[in-house]
Amino acid sequence: MEIARSVSEFRALRARLNGPVGLVPTMGALHEGHRSLMRRARAECRSVVASIFVNPTQFGPSEDYTQYPRSEEADLAACQEEGVALVLMPPVEEVYPEGASTTVSVGDLATVLEGASRPGHFDGVATVVAKLFHIAQPDRAYFGQKDAQQLMVIRRMVRDLLMPVEVVGCPIVRDEGGLALSSRNAYLTDEERSQALAISRGLRNAEQAWRDGLRDAERLRAPVHDEVARQPLARIDYVSLADAETLAECEGRVQRDALLSVAVHFGRARLIDNTILKVQSS
Ligand code: PAF
Repeated sequence: MEIARSVSEFRALRARLNGPVGLVPTMGALHEGHRSLMRRARAECRSVVASIFVNPTQFGPSEDYTQYPRSEEADLAACQEEGVALVLMPPVEEVYPEGASTTVSVGDLATVLEGASRPGHFDGVATVVAKLFHIAQPDRAYFGQKDAQQLMVIRRMVRDLLMPVEVVGCPIVRDEGGLALSSRNAYLTDEERSQALAISRGLRNAEQAWRDGLRDAERLRAPVHDEVARQPLARIDYVSLADAETLAECEGRVQRDALLSVAVHFGRARLIDNTILKVQSS
C-alpha cells in the first residue's frame, strides 16, 4: 500500500493503478462501516484508493473540527488490511490553497434536515468531494447510507456537474446493540451509548408499523420520537419523515418512498440515523 501526503505524489501513484478504480473518501477514525465500504470497493474494482482528510469546511464554527478523532496509525493499518492500494492524506493548505473561494452548492436539497441544523455543511462536503473526485479520478465512489442526505447531495452534484463517477451507496453498519457505527460514537459515555440504542429501536418500531400498513406521516414519526424522548440524556434535534427523492417533509398519507431520519444529541455526540420506508416493498 502506498501513502501519498501531497496531491502531486498521489497523482503520480494513481497513474500506475489498474482500473476500474474505486474511491472511499473518509475523515479517518475508521471503523467497521468504513471497512465495509472498502470491501465493497475491493469486490467491484481492480484498485481501491482511500482518502483520509478531516475537512474543515464541513464543520460549523462551534462544531468539533479540532476535537474530531484522529488515529492515523490505526487508520492506515485498517486500509492495508482491507486491500487499499493507495491512500491520499493531503494537507489542508493544499486542498484549500490560500484565498480559495470556489465552492460547490447543490441548492435546496442541502438546506433541509442536516443542512438546516448545520448551515453550510453540505457546501463543505460537496466542495471537498468534488476536489477528491478531481484528484483521484475514480470510476466509482463509495458512501454510507447512514449519511443519507450526504449521499443524495453527492449524487445530485455528480448528475448536475456531469462527473464521470458512479456513486455507490452502501448499507448502514450497526453494532450488536443496533447503534449505527460512527466515528463520533467515540464521544459517548457508557450511559449515553446505552440510551442511544433507543434511536435504532425507534426506527425498527416505525419500520414494523410501516410493514403493518401504517401510512400516516405523523404516526410514523411518533415511534422514533417517543422512544428517543424517553431517554433522559437525549436532546432531539429532529425526527423527520421526508420524500426520499426531494426531502420535502411528508404530511398526511405517505404515497412514495420516504426517508425516516433522526438527529439526536447525547452529551458531546450528535448522532444521526435513518431508514428508508419503501412503498413497493410493503
Ligand atoms: O462522510 C464523510 O466522512 C465525509 O463527509 C466525507 C464524505 C469524507 C467528506 O469529507
